[in-house]
Amino acid sequence: MRTVRTVAELREALAPARREGRTIGLVPTMGALHDGHLSLVHLVRERCEVVVVSLFVNPAQFNERGDLERYPRDERRDAEIAAAAGADVLFAPSVEEVYPTGFATTVEVLGVTERLEGAARGAAHFRGVSTVVTKLLCMALPDVAYFGQKDAQQVVVIRHLARDLNLPVRIEALPTVREPDGLAMSSRNALLSSDERARALALPAALDAARALAATGEHSAHRLLNAARAALHPFDVEPEYLELVEPETLEPIDTLTHEALLAIAARIGDVRLIDNAILAPIATGAPTTTQEPKGEAIATCNA
Ligand code: PAJ
Repeated sequence: MRTVRTVAELREALAPARREGRTIGLVPTMGALHDGHLSLVHLVRERCEVVVVSLFVNPAQFNERGDLERYPRDERRDAEIAAAAGADVLFAPSVEEVYPTGFATTVEVLGVTERLEGAARGAAHFRGVSTVVTKLLCMALPDVAYFGQKDAQQVVVIRHLARDLNLPVRIEALPTVREPDGLAMSSRNALLSSDERARALALPAALDAARALAATGEHSAHRLLNAARAALHPFDVEPEYLELVEPETLEPIDTLTHEALLAIAARIGDVRLIDNAILAPIATGAPTTTQEPKGEAIATCNA
């Protein structure tokens, strides 16, 4: 695996593959790689001929200074893990490379960024994500870019910007990878004390409670959300938000008539965690769906 730090080096590293028409897959990350990230890298390795992983802790998307300063960073470890997972190129630019002096352009997706994470963290968060992802896509010009359903709203926002800006890239989303006890893998989990780690199970417990109730045929969003909220109590966790929304528009729904996104954010001590699940109504005569979204995960790279 080759590590490159500038856009010029990245383009030079990818030029032969592009000339020869080989497919390029990109996995954008902020490092502190875990199995969630690696599931994306492994899939690109299977589907694409050239695997690019980007590692950039993007200051523009952090709405809290402390969160940015605390963010775990260990490039050497990340490089070893990315190489072992099959990455061909690690793109690890400096802040100055991505945001040089005089940088004055931002990408802002309206509407879907105003709910959930956008409402809780402010508009700057998704402006930062949208701007850096647009830049990474333009820098690497991959055929396909892979993202995790763990950040469901981020996927919605990125699909929007790729479509709205006619970016010649396919956006694929993969299911959330979890610890054996159900906690969604996250770089921020490393910041939890052992007591906080135990309380963090409140998030998957809330999702499971709502899913279990939906599986009994309950369609009322109010009752599904109450079940999720009740499951948080034993952990002494208050959600920052807990909402049942349309998966595409992220508008709240009253009744579960088709698949909906149940999204939660909560602070465990100083660490802010998010998680989500797709809830599906029981269709008469059909088996219950209580899993992460499927089809999308199987992506080919023949763009
Ligand atoms: P980061 O949090 O490092 O995540 C990189 C990618 O890994 C994202 O697409 C994220 O959704 C995915 N991911 C994280 N945890 C996961 C899990 N448990 N299972 C499956 N996928 C998981 O998301 C970002 O970085 C940034 O916002 C970025 C897109 C890189 C822009 O800066």
